[in-house]
Amino acid sequence: MNPVLYSTTRQNWCTPRWLVDIIRSFRPAGIGLDPASNPQSPVAAATDWREGALERSWRGHGLVYLNPPYGRGVGAWTRKAREEFADATGSADELLLLLPARVDAIWYQRDVGNCAVCFIKGRIRFLGAAAGATFPSMLVYLGHDHLHFAEHFSRRGVVMVPATSGGTNVSVIHDLVPASPTGAKPALILVEP
Ligand SMILES: C[S@@+](CC[C@H](N)C(=O)[O-])C[C@H]1O[C@@H](n2cnc3c(N)ncnc32)[C@H](O)[C@@H]1O
Repeated sequence: MNPVLYSTTRQNWCTPRWLVDIIRSFRPAGIGLDPASNPQSPVAAATDWREGALERSWRGHGLVYLNPPYGRGVGAWTRKAREEFADATGSADELLLLLPARVDAIWYQRDVGNCAVCFIKGRIRFLGAAAGATFPSMLVYLGHDHLHFAEHFSRRGVVMVPATSGGTNVSVIHDLVPASPTGAKPALILVEP
C-alpha cells in the first residue's frame, strides 16, 4: 500500500456514497452547497465550486457540506468555516465538515474543538479507494440544531456536543438520542464554546 495515497495528505478524497446519503438525509432539502468539489464527487449539492471557495461567502445555501483538501492546508478551511458560521445561530445556514480526527492538530484546537462532532466508527473507505483510510474521521457540525445532529449521526459513532447546545439542555439531548446496540449512550462534552 502506498502510504501517501492512504494518508491525510491527499487533496481529493471523495466522500463514500453511504456517507453522502446520510448527510443528504440530515435535511429534507439536501445539501445546498459543496464548496470544495471535483468532477468525481458523488455529493451532488445544489451548488458546487471547484476553486475560489476560500474567497467567497458560504452563507445563504442552507446545509453546506465540506470535505476539504487534506494536508497542510486544512487549517485554512477550518478557519474559514469558523469565520463563516460564527454568527449562524438562528439562521438556516449550517455546515457539516468531514475531517481527519486529528484532535492534536492546531486547526482542531483553534477552530472546531468546541463544536458538535461525531467521531465516525471504523475507518472510512473513500470513494474509489482500495482500502480503508489509515486515519480516523469525524463529522463536525456548525449550526443551530445540536439535538438533530446528535439524533441523526449517533448511529455512526460517538457524538459530542458542547454544553451550550443552541440553548438546548444537554441532558435533554442525552435522553433523546438513541442508545447503541450495546445500550451505550453517546458521550457529551461539557465545554463552553
Ligand atoms: C477532498 S475533495 C472533496 C470532493 C467532494 N466534495 C467530495 O466530498 O466527494 C476536495 C476538492 O476540493 C477542490 N478544491 C481544492 N481547492 C479548492 C478551492 N480553493 N475552492 C474550491 N474547491 C477546491 C479540489 O478539486 C478537490 O478535489
